[in-house]
Amino acid sequence: MESKLTRHEEEEAVRRSKAMEQDDTLTLRKVSRQEYLKKREQKKLDELRDDIEDEQYLFDGVTLTEAEIREMRYKREIFELAKKRSEDVDNISEYRMPEAYDQDGGVNQEKRFAAAVQRYRDLGTGDKMNPFAEQEAWEEHQIGKATLKFGSKDKKKISEDYQFVFEDQIEFIKDTVMRGENVKGLLTETATDLSAKSMLQNLQDERKTLPIYPFRDELIQALNHHQVIVIVGETGSGKTTQIPQYLHEAGYTKRGKIGCTQPRRVAAMSVAARVSQEMGVKLGHEVGYSIRFEDCTSEKTVLKYMTDGMLLREFLGEPDLSSYSVVMVDEAHERTVSTDILFGLVKDISRFRTDLKLLISSATLDAEKFSNYFDAAPIFRIPGRRFPVEIHYTKSPEADYLDAAIVSVLQIHVTQPPGDILVFLTGQEEIETADEILKHRTRGLGTKIAELIICPIYANLPTELQAKIFEPTPEGARKVVLATNIAETSLTIDGIKYVIDPGFCKMKSYNPRSGMESLLITPISKASANQRAGRSGRTGPGKCFRLYTLFNFQNDMEDNTVPEIQRTNLANVVLTLKSLGINDLVSFDFMDPPPAEALLKAVEMLYALSALNKLGELTLAGRKMAEFPLDPMLSKMIVASDKYKCSEEIISIAAMLSVGNSIFYRPKDKQVHADNARLNFHTGNVGDHIALLKVYNSWKETNFSTQWCYENYIQVRSMKRARDIRDQLQGLLERAEIELLSNENDLELIKKVITSGFFHHSARLQKSGAYQTVKFPQTVHIHPSSGLAQVLPRWVIYHELVLTTKEYMRQITELKPEWLVEIAPHYYKLKDVEDPGSKKMPRGEGRATMD
Ligand code: CDP
Ligand code: MG
Repeated sequence: MESKLTRHEEEEAVRRSKAMEQDDTLTLRKVSRQEYLKKREQKKLDELRDDIEDEQYLFDGVTLTEAEIREMRYKREIFELAKKRSEDVDNISEYRMPEAYDQDGGVNQEKRFAAAVQRYRDLGTGDKMNPFAEQEAWEEHQIGKATLKFGSKDKKKISEDYQFVFEDQIEFIKDTVMRGENVKGLLTETATDLSAKSMLQNLQDERKTLPIYPFRDELIQALNHHQVIVIVGETGSGKTTQIPQYLHEAGYTKRGKIGCTQPRRVAAMSVAARVSQEMGVKLGHEVGYSIRFEDCTSEKTVLKYMTDGMLLREFLGEPDLSSYSVVMVDEAHERTVSTDILFGLVKDISRFRTDLKLLISSATLDAEKFSNYFDAAPIFRIPGRRFPVEIHYTKSPEADYLDAAIVSVLQIHVTQPPGDILVFLTGQEEIETADEILKHRTRGLGTKIAELIICPIYANLPTELQAKIFEPTPEGARKVVLATNIAETSLTIDGIKYVIDPGFCKMKSYNPRSGMESLLITPISKASANQRAGRSGRTGPGKCFRLYTLFNFQNDMEDNTVPEIQRTNLANVVLTLKSLGINDLVSFDFMDPPPAEALLKAVEMLYALSALNKLGELTLAGRKMAEFPLDPMLSKMIVASDKYKCSEEIISIAAMLSVGNSIFYRPKDKQVHADNARLNFHTGNVGDHIALLKVYNSWKETNFSTQWCYENYIQVRSMKRARDIRDQLQGLLERAEIELLSNENDLELIKKVITSGFFHHSARLQKSGAYQTVKFPQTVHIHPSSGLAQVLPRWVIYHELVLTTKEYMRQITELKPEWLVEIAPHYYKLKDVEDPGSKKMPRGEGRATMD
C-alpha cells in the first residue's frame, strides 16, 4: 500500500536524517581524533629520537657549550624515560582491570577479544571474513592516489638521505586544482640578453609584458570620460606600478600630483622604489613615498605613493586635496579603517572638485559593491593571468602550524623541482623564529642540499633588507620568503611556485563595551586563503599547501574578512574626522558603518581625554592632539607634557613606544647577559616607560653609538628608528605650540604625565597575584618581559594588552591611585580607586603635588 507523506512529515524526515548524519560525523570525528592522538604519541617519541640523532650527526666533532651538552643530556634522558614507559606499560606494578578470557578456551586460554579484534585488523592475509578489508583497501588506494608524492625519487631513499632535515613529514592530500585563466600567449619572455640591453630598457620591455599593458589606452580614455573608475585585476597585473605611470605619460601630472594609497608601509616604499627604477629617476624626486614618520618626497614629486593613513592626514592641511589631479585608492578590498574613511572623504570632495579623478582599485571581486558606493561608477576589468594551482590539505589537523610550516619548507626544498616558496606567517616574531630554525636546520648540510635563501618580510623590516625579496634567485638555489599577509595582495614576488598557508593572520579585535583592543591570531577567511593560493600561480603552474584540513576550510573559515572599521577602536578616526570639521559622525557616508556602540565609545574616550567638550566639539587640546600621527592616548600624553614642562622626556618615551617591542635583543646563547643588561635600565623599579627613556638618553649620551647598543643588547636599528620618530615629533611640537622643555630628574612627574594619557589603562593587583583592570574588570597579567614582572606593584598603568597564552599588559609603570581621580575626575570616581573593605583611599608617600 502506498502512503503519501504530508509535507510536515517530509520535513521531519529530512530533519531527522540530517541530525543522524551530524551524529555520525561527530562520532567519526571523535574516533579519528583518538586515533590521531595515539599516533601523535608515537610521532612525538620518534621526533625526539630523530632530534637526538640529528644533533649527534650535526654536532659531531664540534665542541659544545655546557648548556648545549646539558640540553642534549636532558633530551636523551627524556627519550629513554618515555620509551621505557611505553615499552613497560605491560609490566608496571599497578592494579589493572583483568582482561576477559574465553570461557571455554581450554589450556591455551586465548584472549577472546584480542582474537576477535585481530581478525578485523589483519589486512591482506587472505582472511575473507574481514568485513572492512575491502573498504579499507579502497580508501588506502584513493588516499594513495591523492597523496602528494615528493619528487621522482622513491620515498625510502629520500628519507635516508634527508633524515636529518626532516624530523617529521607532513602528509598532504591533494584536493582541487584552481583553474588558470588566460594563460595562453601571455608567457613573458624571460632572461633577455642582459648585456645587450640597458637595465632601463629591460624594465621598459618588462612593463610591456604585464597583463595591463594592452589596456593602457583604453584605460586612459575611460578616465578622460569618467570621474570615478573602479579597477579590478588579479594581483600582479600591474595596477599599482603601471596606472600612475600611464597617467603621468598621458599628462595628468601637469595639473597636479598623482597620489596612490597603500594599506601597508612596506608596500608603499617598495612600489615607489620599483616605479622610480622603471622611470629611471631617483627615489624621492619625481617618484616618492610618504609613510608615517618617513617622508621621501620633494617638490619635484609627481607620483606619490603613500599609506592610506597619510593621505587621510593630508586632508588636515589641504581639505580639498587641491595639489592632486588623481587619487588612486589602491588595494581597496583590504578595507582598512583609513581606506574606509578615505572612501567617504574622496567621494565627498569629488562632488565639488570635478577635475579630480578617482581610481578605486581592488584585487578581488567586490567590484559591484565599490561601484554602487561611488554612484554606479564604471568597472574596468583587467583580464588576469594565472596558471593552475594545485591545492593540498593536510590529512589531519596540525597542532603547531609554525613547526608544520618549517617542516613543509624543508620537505619542498629537498624533494620538489625548482621554484621559490612563499610562507604566510602572522607577524615579526613568528617570522624571526622560523628564520632562525630554518637556518639552524640547514646549517652544516653543505652540498647535501641546494642553497636555501631565507628572506623575511614584514612591516617593520628596514628598507635595505626588503630589497632582498625581489632579487632574482641564483641558479641552483631556492628562495623561501617568510611573509605576513603583506604578500597576499600588496606585494608581488616573482618566481613563487609553492605557497605554504598555515591559515592564520594577526587581526585586531575590539570590545566596544570595555574599550579593550587586542591583536589576536585568527583563522583567515576563505577569500584570503584563495588569494594566498593564487600567489603560487603567477609565473607557472603552482602548488599551495594548506596546513589545515579540507574540513577546516569548509566549516571553520568565514567567507570574507570583516572590515577593520567594524572591529577596531575608533578614537583615532573620530579625532581625525572631528578635526576635519565633520561633526555629524552618524550620517557620515560609511561604506559599512561601524557599530554605533564603538562610535559612542570613541567619543566618550575623547571626551575623557578632554579632546572633545560636552557638545562633542573639538577642544584646543583636541586640536593639538590631532597634529600628532599617534594614537590619541599617546598624543594626549604629549600635549599634557606642556603643562608639566617635560616634553623632551615625553616625546622620547612616545618615540620608543612607537617602535614596538624590538628594542631589547635577547640572543639564545647569551640570555643571561642580555637580561642583566636590560635590568640595568630598571634599577629602582622605575617601570618600563622610564626604562625606555633611560635607554634612549644613555644612547644619546654616547653620541648614538652602535658599539654601546651591542654592549647593552639593544637593537641599534630600532634605536635609529626611535630617533627618527622623535625628530619628527619634535618638529610637530612647534605646530601644536608646545614648548620643548626638559625635566629629567622628576620621574614622579613624568609618570604622572604618562598617566594623563593612559589613565584608561589602569589595573590593580589582586590577592591572586593577577591584576584586574579598574573600570571594566578583566583579569590581566604583567608580561614577563616587563621590569616590574617580579615586583608586582599594587597599581599600574599599561601601554597595551596582548593576548597570547594569557591576557598580558605590556610596558608598565607604577601608579598612585589618587592620580586617577585627580587627572580624570570625570572618568574615575573615588569609589573606583578605594581599597575594597576600607573606606579610605590608599595614598602613596610621594603624593601628587601638582594643581
Ligand atoms: O598592483 P598589481 O598587483 O596589479 O601589480 P603591481 O604591484 O603593479 O606589479 C606588477 C609587476 O611589477 C609584478 O609582476 C612585479 O613583478 C613587479 N614589481 C616588482 O618587481 N617589484 C616591486 N616592488 C613591485 C612590483
Ligand atoms: Mg597592487
